[in-house]
Amino acid sequence: MDAHFGTPAVPTVRVPEWDTVVATAVVRTDPEQKPLGATLKAATGRLASFKWDAWRADWQAANAAKAELKLDDAALARGSVVYRRWCLQCHGPSGAGDPAHAVENGPMPRDYRQGVFKYVTAFAPPNLPKKGLGAAGKARRADLKRTVRYGIEGTIMPAFPSLTEQELEDAVSYVIHLSVRGEAEFATLAKVTNVAKYTEETPEYVGIELDWLFVQNELWVLLNWGLAAKYPIPVPPEPFTSEPERLKSAVRGFKLYNSSEFGCASCHANYGRVPQLKWDAWATVVQPRNLTLGVYRGGRRGEDLYARLYGGIHPSGMTAFHDRVTAAPPGTPDKIWDIVHFLTALADSSDLRRIQQLDPEVKIEP
Ligand code: HEC
Ligand code: HEC
Repeated sequence: MDAHFGTPAVPTVRVPEWDTVVATAVVRTDPEQKPLGATLKAATGRLASFKWDAWRADWQAANAAKAELKLDDAALARGSVVYRRWCLQCHGPSGAGDPAHAVENGPMPRDYRQGVFKYVTAFAPPNLPKKGLGAAGKARRADLKRTVRYGIEGTIMPAFPSLTEQELEDAVSYVIHLSVRGEAEFATLAKVTNVAKYTEETPEYVGIELDWLFVQNELWVLLNWGLAAKYPIPVPPEPFTSEPERLKSAVRGFKLYNSSEFGCASCHANYGRVPQLKWDAWATVVQPRNLTLGVYRGGRRGEDLYARLYGGIHPSGMTAFHDRVTAAPPGTPDKIWDIVHFLTALADSSDLRRIQQLDPEVKIEP
């Protein structure tokens, strides 16, 4: 781990040289210590079947992602200082999250090591080939910057208005570093310990065999971060500028919310006022949000809510409704904006009264 990711004092993200990648893939010594001739023969066989183009493309994508995500040593060294000063007490030295700082009925300080985040505006097409643990739930740099600058409303994650722009950038690089490091380890262990999936061909993951598994995961984790950066959620501009149009849109949103097409109520029962506890990716309990309160952790602007509905909340199992947009014929109202307008009205008593006057079918128990 240290060879690839350094230490808190000297952090790094070291993508192995291309030659090393090939050598690790091909020259795997046999744990049974077969004679040299047999080992050479195995290596020649692996060399012949090594998918040069595919692996070179993945390796290049990992390097490109490292540059795009600003994971250079200088940024990480500065980020480590900011992190130790402001974040470590809650998120821990390895980014595992410190349960000692959990508060009752609130979410735990985030463990970054699964490589998934909740409040993101990235949504890679779900039908892309899945490498490693995949790109779902990865954040864009802009998302992490937003979280750190403004905090997470309704939780103990504070806002950091006084960090300079440079400190903010560096802290975000450091969070990504911890996340890449943690996920590469997590994905490797997940494979090694998944004994249920072992077959005759499964190699024994020790020595160079383990190195190769780790290198693959490191490349794929970086590649997936790069993919997330390439697919920002396309939020169309607010379609309605006049009040009457916005309220009519909210009425349509009420109907969509309660339709079987969206089925929000299946999780947010009685608009989230009835607890329907679920587990998230960290096996902590989450409550589908009470939507009558108007407290949103991922931001309260229309475009924030739009992105949340479009991409869902991957680690919490909230559905992504992206396919409902692509299915909407051009020229018809955007269903997601309609629901966003409804959510805004739901948390505002005077708006709610107005949409109920507009359409008596909008019935919400107080
Ligand atoms: C007082 C404790 C505390 C401190 C200090 C703190 N955090 Fe957090 N952080 C949290 C909690 C709690 C959450 C989880 C919130 C949730 O699940 O909604 C969180 C979540 C996050 C997330 C995940 C956002 C997502 O989309 O999933 C990031 C990134 C993050 N914090 C970065 C930082 C950084 C960087 C710092 C230092 C500059 C920092 N935090 C300082 C408590 C803290
Ligand atoms: C499969 C269950 C499920 C469905 C279906 C679902 N949600 Fe959620 N939703 C959740 C969970 C769980 C959370 C809380 C996530 C957390 O705190 O980690 C949540 C959170 C939210 C949030 C809070 C976002 C924030 O920034 O804090 C909004 C808004 C929301 N849901 C709206 C909706 C709407 C509108 C629909 C229907 C279009 C919907 N949800 C459908 C499970 C669901």
